[in-house]
Order: sequence, then structure tokens, then C-alpha cells
Amino acid sequence: MTDYRTLVSQAEGMLEAEPWYVAAFSNLSALVMETLPDLNWAGFYIMKDGRLTVGPFQGKPACIHIAPGKGVCGTAAARNETVLVPDVHLFPGHIACDGASESEIVIPLRDGETVRAVMDIDSPVKNRFTPEDREGLETLARAIEKTVRWA
Ligand code: SME
Repeated sequence: MTDYRTLVSQAEGMLEAEPWYVAAFSNLSALVMETLPDLNWAGFYIMKDGRLTVGPFQGKPACIHIAPGKGVCGTAAARNETVLVPDVHLFPGHIACDGASESEIVIPLRDGETVRAVMDIDSPVKNRFTPEDREGLETLARAIEKTVRWA
């Protein structure tokens, strides 16, 4: 089981050292990829000009733009809530950037009420993400929102 207390405290350290989102998201995607077992992609899509645009990540090259409401990322952004997908093949409209992905979780990152980005994590294992992962990653998202600088 992932030690989310340690993960969140490491993330807080990174954010305090440099809150600018590009630097913070670069190291945070590496931290998540290193810490959680069985991942093939971990990173961020940033809301830019009305659509999600790929940001810092670890994994294979990914889709560059995602419209709100499209795919798992666009759905999480449009609903402004976490979307946990146990089997991506059963999610209508799932966007397959890496054919190895079998399950996925996407957590919105807000600036006040506004969704500014999403954190997207993919696994090559079905049912990879438990309710504990969801809770831990939402705690991480709240820590990011508290300190990150969006410009
Ligand atoms: N699967 C995502 C697209 C992004 S990749 O997983 C990196 C989606 O359906 O939105």
C-alpha cells in the first residue's frame, strides 16, 4: 500500500521550494511515478484557451489537446470531480494515448472554484486504483492547490 502521508509531505516540500506550476508539476509527476507501483503514465493537463493541454508528465508521449467533456480527463474537468475508471475499455469515450493503459484516475486541480488543470494517472493493471488511492491522491491535490502558483 502506498504511504500517502510521506508522499504528500514530499510534495509539500517540493511545492514550498518552487511553487511555479511547471517546475512543481515536473517533479510531482516524477514523484508519483516513482512512488506508486504499477503505473505507465502520471502527469498533468493544464486548462489553456478553453481546453486541456498536456503539461509535465512521465510516460509515453501523450495526446496534446483534450476538449472539456471528452475522455476521462475532459470528463473530470467538466464535472469538476475525480473520475476513477477501473477498466478503461468500459469507459465510453476513453482516449487511448498509451495502449498499455487498463485503468485510470483523474483528479481536478482548482484555483478557487475554477478547474485549472487535472492530474492524470494511468495503470497497465485493471482495477489498480482503490478508494484509499483516491483519498490519498485527492489529499495530494488539495496540497498542490494550496501552494501552487499558476503563472
Ligand atoms: N486517457 C486519457 C487521455 C490522456 S492519457 O491517458 C495520458 C483520457 O481518456 O482522457
